[in-house]
Amino acid sequence: MDRLKDKVILIAGAGGIGNACAKRLASEGAAVVLGDIEADVARTCADQITQAGGKAVGLELDGSEEESIASAVETALSKFGGLDGLHANFLQPNEGDTLDVLGIPMAEWEEVTRGQQRGYVLCSRLGLPPMLERGGGSIIYTVSDAVYMAEPVRVGYAMAKAAITALMRHVAKRFGHEGIRANAIAPGLIVHDKVEAMMPPEFLEASRLATVTGRLGRPEDIAGVAAMLMSEDGRHVTGQVMSVNGGTMMRA
Ligand SMILES: NC(=O)c1ccc[n+]([C@@H]2O[C@H](COP(=O)([O-])OP(=O)(O)OC[C@H]3O[C@@H](n4cnc5c(N)ncnc54)[C@H](O)[C@@H]3O)[C@@H](O)[C@H]2O)c1
Repeated sequence: MDRLKDKVILIAGAGGIGNACAKRLASEGAAVVLGDIEADVARTCADQITQAGGKAVGLELDGSEEESIASAVETALSKFGGLDGLHANFLQPNEGDTLDVLGIPMAEWEEVTRGQQRGYVLCSRLGLPPMLERGGGSIIYTVSDAVYMAEPVRVGYAMAKAAITALMRHVAKRFGHEGIRANAIAPGLIVHDKVEAMMPPEFLEASRLATVTGRLGRPEDIAGVAAMLMSEDGRHVTGQVMSVNGGTMMRA
């Protein structure tokens, strides 16, 4: 498939899901700029893509720093000539966000919500102008099923991801007439090396049984939906939160 031929896409946040998206988008013909605060994670993935014959650059990107995102956008423009797609995907580690609203220290809550919301707003502010200049493009924000599922803990994470869906709808509405589509992908549990190392096998098996597909979600499941949204196949889809969760949560 070459439905992303000639598209230039910036993915902010590599790792399990970001790397899989980069590989899938590049395999469909896109030139990918992949950034992560852990530069090696992004560079290794970009090297794998170029070795397989695709187009990719891996670089250091700190989603909390305006200059760092601006520099990644500049790399897309200087190396590949423009920007057609942006995927805001990173997540700063938030070990403290395991408490309820009574337990979480306010500094921790502020760090979690600020890190996600501010970072995704910055990505929007810096990615939109070159996309508008090009006549439009597609933006994806990775959120979570925590957006619409009640959880007794992770109040900061759920609030930040829910706020990002509001940002997504704003961008879709404000810039839709200028050719911009914006959507959010809400993964359920997506298993990759890092998740596998953190979760006990019994939890993973219970999670598999909670799906109706009978399988655990993998980063490639997100990548397939991201590729569709970045392509012309997604041309009539905007302002939506797309769940990718094996049917663990079904909603209108
Ligand atoms: N894996 C899941 O089960 C799951 C479920 C729901 C939502 N998500 C969402 O998917 C996205 C990707 O998660 P993942 O599972 O691939 O995790 P991951 O930890 O593999 O990837 C996240 C990446 O973000 C990077 N990062 C952290 N702070 C950053 C910053 N300031 N700037 C740039 N990069 C930064 C990390 O270095 C890491 O490589 C996240 O937004 C997460 O909330 C994941």
